[in-house]
Amino acid sequence: MKIQLNARNRAHHFDATEGEKLLYAGLSNAVDLPYECGSGTCGTCKARLVSGEIDDAWPEAPGRKYLKGQDEFLMCQCAAKTDVSIEVASFVQTMGAGACVPTSINGRISSVKLLAPDVIHLQINLNQPMEFDAGQFVMIQVPGVTGFRGWSMVNYQRHAETLDFVVKKKPGGGISEWLFNNQCEGVAVELFGPLGRATFYPSLAKNILCIAGGSGIAGMMSILSRAAQDGYFTQYKGDVFFGVQTLKDAFFLHEFSQLRAQCGDNLNITIALSREDAPASALSDHPQLAFDKGFVHEVAGRLMQGRYQNVRAYLAGPAPMVDAAVRTLLQARLTTDNICYDKFS
Ligand SMILES: Cc1cc2nc3c(=O)[nH]c(=O)nc-3n(C[C@H](O)[C@H](O)[C@H](O)COP(=O)(O)OP(=O)(O)OC[C@H]3O[C@@H](n4cnc5c(N)ncnc54)[C@H](O)[C@@H]3O)c2cc1C
Ligand code: FES
Repeated sequence: MKIQLNARNRAHHFDATEGEKLLYAGLSNAVDLPYECGSGTCGTCKARLVSGEIDDAWPEAPGRKYLKGQDEFLMCQCAAKTDVSIEVASFVQTMGAGACVPTSINGRISSVKLLAPDVIHLQINLNQPMEFDAGQFVMIQVPGVTGFRGWSMVNYQRHAETLDFVVKKKPGGGISEWLFNNQCEGVAVELFGPLGRATFYPSLAKNILCIAGGSGIAGMMSILSRAAQDGYFTQYKGDVFFGVQTLKDAFFLHEFSQLRAQCGDNLNITIALSREDAPASALSDHPQLAFDKGFVHEVAGRLMQGRYQNVRAYLAGPAPMVDAAVRTLLQARLTTDNICYDKFS
């Protein structure tokens, strides 16, 4: 199918195969279409159908509440049935040279380990290597569960043949129930990616602030891994705030201690516990880390006071946590171009 996309600044033309979501078709042709979640909730990928026919795979998608009129639709949920002409209200550029252009890749789950009572560490071996930037995510579809879900990469390496993820259980959630209740090792999965603009490059030349809730720490681990590989913290500061409810919900504490030992005093890592004071054993078991009580955005707001000079902030986790952290940073007068986030909606 031939797709003509009229954006605010120019027209783009690309092909889409049968059943291929228009967002994924455009992105894999290096057309930098607007999106955030890639999975039907945020409404950012909305477009208007000018001519032709489309098929909506998820008419109940929550993101449809952002649509106005019968001819608007979500590009991440709709595929072309005929040649189509569509319109988006924003500027759309072609991806620049060196961009990691998303593509469809097949993979196989190679390991599944419980990290905390409701968090799994999962590894997927890819059929072909993937290039991605630190802080990005992929869309994943597993057999028997309808629709793609976004998961952020924990690891960072060029030409990655393996991707690591942490997945938090959402009670009653499609992929959560599948993952926590089945023998998943060896299962073939479909991926589309990499996606996401909350990325870190060592050329950033700024101090970095990471605020994560629960599995939101995934993309931060990728960012920290890339920064550590480049010796970034010899010159710049890193402040990481990882929010969980209680100490038993926390994970990666050993990995944080190793990063801190590797990167030195310029890297500060604080575990924020929202429901309890840190037990004394936490401090003695993890002397390289700090522990504090409160919601992660409150703890970060308190400990970062007066320390926002030359800072780029990365936020990830549940939408209410990210919204609260954005408000904290805006009140601290951090500019919006220095606040990057992924809402795990
Ligand atoms: C950018 C981004 C990065 C994320 N990274 C992580 C991560 O690293 N770790 C993590 O644990 N979670 C992450 N999430 C959240 C994750 O994608 C899932 O929402 C979460 O795992 C719960 O999925 P579920 O299937 O259990 O729940 P469900 O409630 O069944 O589904 C969750 C989401 O899946 C989509 N969906 C549901 N049904 C359909 C359908 N019929 N058709 C199409 N789509 C459907 C919707 O977007 C829905 O909000 C991320 C989310 C986003 C947007
Ligand atoms: S990107 Fe399509 S609804 Fe979020």
